Amino acid sequence: MPTVEQPVHDLVGIGFGPSNLALAIALREREARTGERIDAVFLEKQPSFGWHRGMLLEGTTMQVSFLKDLVTMRNPASEFSFLCYLKARGRMLDFINHKTMFPSRMEFHDYLEWAATHFADQVEYGSEVVAVTPVTVDGTMECLDVVIRRGEGELSTRRTRNLVVAVGLDPVLPDGVVSDERVWHSEELLDRLPSVTEPRRFVVVGAGQSAAEVTDHLHGRFPRAEVYAVFSKYGYTVADDSSFANRIFDSAAVDHYFQAPETVKERLRAYHASTNYSVVDLDLIDELYRRHYQEKVQGRERLRILNASRLAEVARGAEGLRVTVEFLPTGERTVLEADVLVYATGYRPGDPLTLLGDTGEHCERLPSGALRIERDYRIATSAHLRCGIYVQGATEHTHGLTSTLLSNTAVRAGEIVDALAGRLRDSGRGTYAFSR
Ligand SMILES: Cc1cc2nc3c(=O)[nH]c(=O)nc-3n(C[C@H](O)[C@H](O)[C@H](O)COP(=O)(O)OP(=O)(O)OC[C@H]3O[C@@H](n4cnc5c(N)ncnc54)[C@H](O)[C@@H]3O)c2cc1C
Ligand SMILES: NC(=O)c1ccc[n+]([C@@H]2O[C@H](COP(=O)([O-])OP(=O)(O)OC[C@H]3O[C@@H](n4cnc5c(N)ncnc54)[C@H](OP(=O)(O)O)[C@@H]3O)[C@@H](O)[C@H]2O)c1
Repeated sequence: MPTVEQPVHDLVGIGFGPSNLALAIALREREARTGERIDAVFLEKQPSFGWHRGMLLEGTTMQVSFLKDLVTMRNPASEFSFLCYLKARGRMLDFINHKTMFPSRMEFHDYLEWAATHFADQVEYGSEVVAVTPVTVDGTMECLDVVIRRGEGELSTRRTRNLVVAVGLDPVLPDGVVSDERVWHSEELLDRLPSVTEPRRFVVVGAGQSAAEVTDHLHGRFPRAEVYAVFSKYGYTVADDSSFANRIFDSAAVDHYFQAPETVKERLRAYHASTNYSVVDLDLIDELYRRHYQEKVQGRERLRILNASRLAEVARGAEGLRVTVEFLPTGERTVLEADVLVYATGYRPGDPLTLLGDTGEHCERLPSGALRIERDYRIATSAHLRCGIYVQGATEHTHGLTSTLLSNTAVRAGEIVDALAGRLRDSGRGTYAFSR
């Protein structure tokens, strides 16, 4: 259990994905600029840095320009930019000659990993945050104790004045579905695939970017296997990355979205959901169609598209799965024997309240029940809770579509650091006498 003497950090970051990595950079750059140190430590449950490793498929590319890296939109002169990474790797000219704004996901992962190595002394990997409890001083909650599990269950705590929760996305499976050796979420793909030997048939559910990439990957990697893509749309639809629509990811759009009444927020989200959700890059749609057609010409169709369809039943046998697919317009059913079923059924942002426990009772809610989050990404709290709890990611309802993406990460990190620095200055940190 924590003791009253333990040191108090200015900031503990939960998760060390791109969001909190960008924050660590913004903190360091602010310190270099102002000479003021904000003492921060980051807790990451993975054993080392990793960005959606299970979907790090060869040939896949970023869905955001490399200029929307961890820093450039906030500080184009930063030493942590994608361009500085290229320089460090000796690939600047090669990248320029490649003539693309959209690096491969593998290269961007390498960039993120490279940036993360500069913060090794501030990150504790293999450290899962399992709870957050308030520390009360004279009736107000001045600090938080962050409970960390390492390895086989050893628990420890870190005490902090501020928390930045950036735990990313949770994979979503349909109700009642549990992943196992034959049923996976797309997020697990590359971790699970080595266990598959001589597969005959895969079924992939969903019509988003993940589903299309998984379908493409399985079809290419297993030249003897059939891949059935099952989804309720009539066909894959295109991710809208046209220039005017792309403005929904601008920093200014965050301001506009934040100020807008709920009805306007809902309309904006509905208009522009097709920039991100249940959509696929046109190049990939074209490639899948090209292959599908080519196989028809050749008379051996391995890539099967079961459109306007749903899974009606999944039964398990000793040899594999029996998957019943229903064609929605007619109700006709088809039974498939399959080795593996991959649900590429998307994600939802991790809910900060699951970690906050009793502290969550002091967080304000909107009429919808969702957390009230201020423009500076701080959760609005009762006057009893004086410490700051900031959220990166789970703010789509308040800050708009860019929240779960990389497009505004650099700017958001700077905004949070400015807010933190201001509040630390105003509160006169380090003056508390703790009692528990
Ligand atoms: C396959 C895939 C590809 C994507 N590609 C793009 C893209 O090209 N462009 C784009 O803009 N967006 C993309 N996204 C969206 C994605 O959300 C962002 O790229 C990015 O990952 C957001 O960064 P983050 O740090 O907020 O979350 P994450 O990257 O998910 O990082 C969160 C971190 O928190 C850790 N964590 C979680 N819970 C705890 C805990 N309790 N204790 C300690 N650590 C914890 C996790 O291990 C993880 O490392 C993609 C998403 C997926 C699934
Ligand atoms: N290369 C890359 O950069 C890359 C790669 C992969 C993913 N991503 C990003 O990751 C994010 C998530 O993409 P995603 O494709 O994983 O998720 P997504 O866009 O949310 O798509 C989920 C798909 O699953 C379907 N679905 C959801 N629940 C279902 C259910 N119960 N039964 C059947 N189908 C169901 C949805 O259909 P309905 O729409 O009909 O509900 C949709 O087709 C996006 O931001 C995407 O851009 C990026």
